[in-house]
Amino acid sequence: MFKNTEDNHQLTNKLDPNNIPAHVAIIMDGNGRWAQKRHLPRIAGHKRGMETVKTITKVASDMGVKVLTLYAFSTENWKRPHDEVSYLMGLPVKFFNDFIPDLIKNNVQVRVMGLIDQLPAQTQKAVNDAIKDTEDCTGMVLNFALNYGSRLDITMAVQSIGRQVASGTLDPEKIDDQTISDHLMTGFLGQLADPDLLIRTSGEERISNFLLWQIAYSELVFTDVLWPDFDRVVFEEMMLEYQRRDRRFGGIKTSK
Ligand code: FPP
Repeated sequence: MFKNTEDNHQLTNKLDPNNIPAHVAIIMDGNGRWAQKRHLPRIAGHKRGMETVKTITKVASDMGVKVLTLYAFSTENWKRPHDEVSYLMGLPVKFFNDFIPDLIKNNVQVRVMGLIDQLPAQTQKAVNDAIKDTEDCTGMVLNFALNYGSRLDITMAVQSIGRQVASGTLDPEKIDDQTISDHLMTGFLGQLADPDLLIRTSGEERISNFLLWQIAYSELVFTDVLWPDFDRVVFEEMMLEYQRRDRRFGGIKTSK
């Protein structure tokens, strides 16, 4: 668990450039508490959280992260008050409106996973335009989980596999890990589908229906810092913690 220790300015120099996690996934939590602490409406926290998304996208891309997956809206978030949901649905419109030129300049490709066709029309348009505008970018993939839930993801994958079995195009005996990975919403990422590092902000230590299959061997790192306060320094501290971990994937440490 990390605190934001403002005193650490030289972290980038301590990071091993050969051990940057290829896929980083983030559960961006604490926007509401950030706002409440300041006696502001919750949406002020989401607004500020959107600025953090811009900062961390640039930092991650500069560090050499290949995929940054951000949990922006879950299938359970529809339970929030109507005004808050409306505001959250407007954020991608604002975000892409402001930030597409920077994303293109930084060669960042936008992708979105989740039930996009259930989103309001203007949100769908913003998302689809962003995907199209950045489709030729070959650098980091900025992958938003929007109206995403991992149980939904797994359920849809099972349905799709079931249809192939029923139509006779897939032998059930041939179904393996890779078949399932390929059918999940992260399937388009190929070998990069599984996060190496999963971060959750705000002091909560749970997964909240995010990438349940894909995080089987991810390193999990938590911080007390609320998402609107998350910055380059905290991110680098978490990357350093990742680099201290000994990843064995169920095997034993091999001598170098
Ligand atoms: C969780 O904080 C945050 C969310 C449900 C929304 C996350 C969205 C953003 C950070 C902005 C996304 C930007 C784009 C471009 C889509 P919370 O509200 O649950 O915080 P709390 O636990 O303190 O109440």
